[in-house]
Amino acid sequence: MACASVLLLVGCKPPLPPSKPLSELTPQENSGYAVFQSRCARCHYANSDSGLRGPGLQALYKQPYLPSGAPANDDRITYVIRYGRGMMPAFGSDLDERQLSNLIAYLHTL
Ligand code: HEC
Repeated sequence: MACASVLLLVGCKPPLPPSKPLSELTPQENSGYAVFQSRCARCHYANSDSGLRGPGLQALYKQPYLPSGAPANDDRITYVIRYGRGMMPAFGSDLDERQLSNLIAYLHTL
């Protein structure tokens, strides 16, 4: 692959592991997808790691670290969603526990 041969020269990245197709989401993941579409999609791509207003979230849990360098785990990601970070608003008073856990379940499929 041409991309691989110039990897070191231009910093071309290997492809991200694929997300679970939307058609295969469980009911909980599907509810989380709806939360993502209404609260997160205006600032984050789910199907890319390119930035929109915030970093792209594809393969979020499949990499050891978040863009900030914090570990990519439920504790940290839940914290960022509840309390915000930098230019990202807090969603703690907007989302109830059920919406939050549905959203986390969806983020695991990316
Ligand atoms: C108004 C735009 C905006 C919205 C809406 C938004 N974010 Fe963000 N998000 C950002 C920005 C900007 C950053 C980068 C923050 C920083 O590192 O300073 C970010 C960072 C993140 C990170 C990475 C945190 C880290 O430690 O690197 C995650 C995960 C994330 N957002 C998830 C979400 C989820 C899930 C939602 C929906 C509930 C959401 N965001 C809604 C703008 C947004």
